[in-house]
Amino acid sequence: MVSLSDRSNKYWSGRASEFSGLRMKDYESSMRSAYENFLLAFLPDNKKGISVLDLGTGAGFFAIILRKLGCQVTAVDFSSEMLAQAEINAQEKDARGISFIEMDAQNLTFPDNSFDFIITRNVTWVVEDAEKVYYHMHRVLKPGGTMINLDANYGKSFKESDDKGETPTHPTQTLEQLRERNAIAKECSISKEKRPSWDVDLLIDLGVSDIWVHLDLDKKLGLEAANCPYISASNNTKSKIFVVVAKKI
Ligand SMILES: C[S@@+](CC[C@H](N)C(=O)[O-])C[C@H]1O[C@@H](n2cnc3c(N)ncnc32)[C@H](O)[C@@H]1O
Repeated sequence: MVSLSDRSNKYWSGRASEFSGLRMKDYESSMRSAYENFLLAFLPDNKKGISVLDLGTGAGFFAIILRKLGCQVTAVDFSSEMLAQAEINAQEKDARGISFIEMDAQNLTFPDNSFDFIITRNVTWVVEDAEKVYYHMHRVLKPGGTMINLDANYGKSFKESDDKGETPTHPTQTLEQLRERNAIAKECSISKEKRPSWDVDLLIDLGVSDIWVHLDLDKKLGLEAANCPYISASNNTKSKIFVVVAKKI
């Protein structure tokens, strides 16, 4: 029987080229500077050379931004096809020296206390065991380091939409892909959780010091559909992106 992880890997790998196209359009839009400024607010002043992990890098959007800010970037993803796209994008954007590694976010093999800063976006909603992802993020973060999760309760909203009998739509995915996406999300236990309260509780249990939460990142970054035509064309979910930032003691 095919495991959920293998199924998910197949889904993301099948999207590598099309997904990369979307993220590189983002990179060329006002999103890049919006996200860069957002990251700068949490990065230390002496950010040059700090060790950063981009977890579930996809097409490398954050890895490229952080490398261009001077950080030493490690970017992991479990899909070799996504990583291949990310490497091409990094070369094209002249962000050399990123270390791209194929790895499962639920079982990071880095030693404890490896990174000063960890970013992950839109990954925890689609993993079988998000608790494990948080455990490893916290484990590989150095004491005093910062971890940031940008995510939304996509699985929950896809399920609600399916339950209403709605047909999923997306500017670049086929209906077959969207049905597979929704089926995978339904199998992920995190889709049943109230987020980001669930995330905050977990981080408290892991023993972090400060936690900062924001419930509508697009609004915070001025990227709402009303002021950003590109977003209104590409954002087809009803879920708001939240931010959870935590510091390790
Ligand atoms: C929605 S994309 C987000 C990509 C990138 N973080 C971004 O924001 O542009 C989700 C990514 O997570 C990766 N992913 C999903 N499950 C994973 C896992 N268990 N381990 C590592 N990567 C995973 C997928 O291959 C895909 O590249």
